[in-house]
Amino acid sequence: MSDTTGTSTDELREEVRSRYAAAAVAVGQGQSNADLNDALQLADDCGTASCCSPTGTDETVVDGAFGAGLYSPDEHGDVPAEALAASLGCGNPTVVADLRPGERVLDLGSGGGIDVLLSARRVGESGFAYGVDMTDEMLELARANAAKAGATNVEFLKGTIEDVPLPDGAVDVVISNCVINLSVDKPRVLAEMYRVLTPGGRIGISDVVAEDHLTPAERAERGSYVGCIAGALSRSEYLDGLAAAGFTETVVEFTHEAAPGMHGAIIRATKPASRS
Ligand SMILES: C[S@@+](CC[C@H](N)C(=O)[O-])C[C@H]1O[C@@H](n2cnc3c(N)ncnc32)[C@H](O)[C@@H]1O
Repeated sequence: MSDTTGTSTDELREEVRSRYAAAAVAVGQGQSNADLNDALQLADDCGTASCCSPTGTDETVVDGAFGAGLYSPDEHGDVPAEALAASLGCGNPTVVADLRPGERVLDLGSGGGIDVLLSARRVGESGFAYGVDMTDEMLELARANAAKAGATNVEFLKGTIEDVPLPDGAVDVVISNCVINLSVDKPRVLAEMYRVLTPGGRIGISDVVAEDHLTPAERAERGSYVGCIAGALSRSEYLDGLAAAGFTETVVEFTHEAAPGMHGAIIRATKPASRS
């Protein structure tokens, strides 16, 4: 299988991994997410595409569509500065998911750990927050941020979001922030979210989503795959994919423009309590 540029899925996944590894290293060296694109361009031979970032090098990407500015000032004080600096998301999924004390939460593509740390605060000591990420450098950064935050109810696991290293029914809530667009096998990710949720569990996700009229080629004209634009699903594709995985009460709502015809969006859905 390949994307609109003919890149194989294995090559695409490796491009994503190496780009976010470079981002984690840059943050570890004291750069903020606003500086990341320069660092990534230096680290990358082709030098044309960026991470999800507030200063995307993709020309059509809207300033402020990604990153720490999407969290409230109160939340800024709740996490280490390094976790905030590493924020590469396109929303605030802990708010989307409306987390409650005692819940078990899983963050898919946890990056520098900001949403896991915010989740851990929201669910309290009787709850627990897991993060899964495939990039060693991001896991290292996230674990260091958890130690700085003194968080004891968190664990960062190495793995892919297409093959989550947790058993069936392990969590009450799945969150994710601007990662599903980066997956090379989105139906599998949606099936994994369903599998790891307990019956009655829910998802609260932030992601980039395209308007339905945009073809995959038109999405790729607006930004790169690693920059969280080209791989975005359309709204109908998201809703159909969630229904095919078994989810009900599905909602995909645009919140802010990320590029022409492409939006930061919130995605909510429920795993039925029991199959009728
Ligand atoms: C755009 S960053 C978002 C990080 C974090 N959610 C945030 O809001 O800052 C994407 C993250 O997802 C990870 N990632 C991308 N594709 C993945 C996959 N298929 N499986 C596991 N992790 C993945 C990357 O390593 C990176 O840490």
